[in-house]
Amino acid sequence: MEPRLVIEVLAQYLERQPETVKLRIRLYMALRTAILDRVLKQGTKLPPTRLLADELDMGRNTVVRAYEQLLVEGYLEGRVGDGTYVSGIVDSASKPDTPKRLIGTRREGLSRRGTSIASQAASSAIQHGAFMPGVPAVDLFPFNLWRRLVGKYIHADQSRLLNYTHLGFGPLKVALANYLRVTRMMTVDPKQVLIINGSHQGFDLCARMLADHGDRVWIEDPGYWGARNVLHAAGLDVRPIPLDAKGLAPTPEDWAQPPRMIFTSPSSQYPTGVVLSLDRRLELLENAHQSGSWIIEDDYDNELRYDERPVASLFGLCRRQRVIYMGTFSKVMYPGIRLAYMVLPEDLVDAFVIGNSELYRGGRMPEQAALAEFIDEGYFTAHIKRMRGIYQGRRDALREAMESRLGDVVTVSGGHAGLQLVYRFNRPIDDTLVAAQALAKGVVSRPLSMYYANPESWQTGLNLGFAAVPEKSIVPAVETLVRVIESHL
Ligand SMILES: Cc1ncc(COP(=O)(O)O)c(C=O)c1O
Repeated sequence: MEPRLVIEVLAQYLERQPETVKLRIRLYMALRTAILDRVLKQGTKLPPTRLLADELDMGRNTVVRAYEQLLVEGYLEGRVGDGTYVSGIVDSASKPDTPKRLIGTRREGLSRRGTSIASQAASSAIQHGAFMPGVPAVDLFPFNLWRRLVGKYIHADQSRLLNYTHLGFGPLKVALANYLRVTRMMTVDPKQVLIINGSHQGFDLCARMLADHGDRVWIEDPGYWGARNVLHAAGLDVRPIPLDAKGLAPTPEDWAQPPRMIFTSPSSQYPTGVVLSLDRRLELLENAHQSGSWIIEDDYDNELRYDERPVASLFGLCRRQRVIYMGTFSKVMYPGIRLAYMVLPEDLVDAFVIGNSELYRGGRMPEQAALAEFIDEGYFTAHIKRMRGIYQGRRDALREAMESRLGDVVTVSGGHAGLQLVYRFNRPIDDTLVAAQALAKGVVSRPLSMYYANPESWQTGLNLGFAAVPEKSIVPAVETLVRVIESHL
């Protein structure tokens, strides 16, 4: 693993340590946990103490003492004149507990639910670099403009914006209703828009407001593991439904036991990019109406469509108020903004506004106000247009590099929209191992198998994010991947 990546991993682990503890102990704990988690594996060379101290903004002595402690305890070993390395003791002592083995076994002090959440966690400590999927090029966001807009509203004169909010910022809902009418063919009263702190909050709110413990919910398989985990954590009976070339493909037998909710990403299925066909859309809406099922439409990357015009939303097609629409600013602005929105059927609005306020409390009003202005003044559309051009170049560069080097080993899917391309392996290759080996060489990816809930339908491959990778870095990172993949052929 490159020193830059080791530093990044340590910075992430450091953030998770309690601030009340001395810095030296926090660094020690961060390093130790990264080794025990096998994120820093046997033989990984640690950065020189002076470099790490500079990068993490701490005294060199602090780093020296943390290293010394771990050397004494055997986690590290020093090679004279060469540096400090992770020792082999942890690796040889026991195999790591895989998440699957922990499911159902209570961890000390945690509830069964807590154990399950902790052990099925799939989000990554590393969120940028080639080829982290699902993340935009945050460095290209117009920060000066954004700072000025937010600054206008984080101000003593605007103190009313600093309280809890029940309803969200009115002009933002109006701006979104207008935007959705034009881009997503949706006729929406601004009252139907609920501002939330990220889509995950919306998934959880739907689970709590629309379903009871043990109720059945369908998810796409493969599908977004984040939604799967949230719905599972809410106590729902999560049933994977396979996809085919037309998208989500429930059978008549599935409909014989209809679900309470259906989670789907019809405009650009995650991660495959498949667009749900019109006949399937009409069938889904009709069956959901007949069965009294709610549809959650996750429209996470509708803004970033490259080759064709945007696909109209399911919400806009539905005449019977069965669809809850979700949009997010994570992919077009930056994920840390934690602002997203739901568009609700009219009859659900009042209860959802109350539920949202009771469960999570609303806030972030200065950012909401800044966002309303950002949209109304045309900056939002201009940013999307600019990023679309940049991302398209990056997508093409990744496609070309993969095609020329691995054309007969992989099959591509997706890429008409969004931030990533999915490559299926045409041969039996362990994608988890490939992803781990590539990570050790500094290239991030997601194994395709992790998106499947049903192990019997697993396909292997890699999900590669191109959006945050400058074009010049794409070919060298692909070369690294090629070397790893070729070692499995
Ligand atoms: C398919 C899909 N939906 C939703 C989200 C979550 O978005 P948010 O950042 O709004 O919680 C993600 C995030 O990666 C995603 O990949």
